[in-house]
Amino acid sequence: MALSLVAKYPERSAIHRELIDTAIEELEHFKLVFELMQERKINFSPAINEDPYIKLLIKQMHSSGEKRFLDYLLIGSLFETRGAERFRLIEENLIDPGYKKFYKMLWTSEARHGHIYINMGLTYFPEKQVYERMDWWMDREAEVIQSLPIRAALH
Ligand SMILES: [Fe+2]
Repeated sequence: MALSLVAKYPERSAIHRELIDTAIEELEHFKLVFELMQERKINFSPAINEDPYIKLLIKQMHSSGEKRFLDYLLIGSLFETRGAERFRLIEENLIDPGYKKFYKMLWTSEARHGHIYINMGLTYFPEKQVYERMDWWMDREAEVIQSLPIRAALH
């Protein structure tokens, strides 16, 4: 998502460095997870499908212009922050100190990304607009979560 925003919004240069740094950090985490999977001889699942939670939220974005740009940043923040909460729940329930440390590193990083996306929104839009639209997104997210079956998922 971070890299696609750089490509979609080449004129928004004030946030390109943060988007690229965020993308690099995400990829470093992906590599660390891949290495753990290799150690444990776990392959990627053949069933990595479109995530219904993300799909249903993206469908509700403004279709174009400035408002769509803000929506990207706000749902980015929502996905990162929700991801942080999920990784934190895992961390709090793990016993193995190595994995505990690993998940703590993941959730603190995701929580930071959540703030970064909001701050990017505040770079371009008034505070009132950012937080009112974020409240709106949180209501939409609650509806989406209630409409979906409970399943094991991390983002
Ligand atoms: Fe993240």
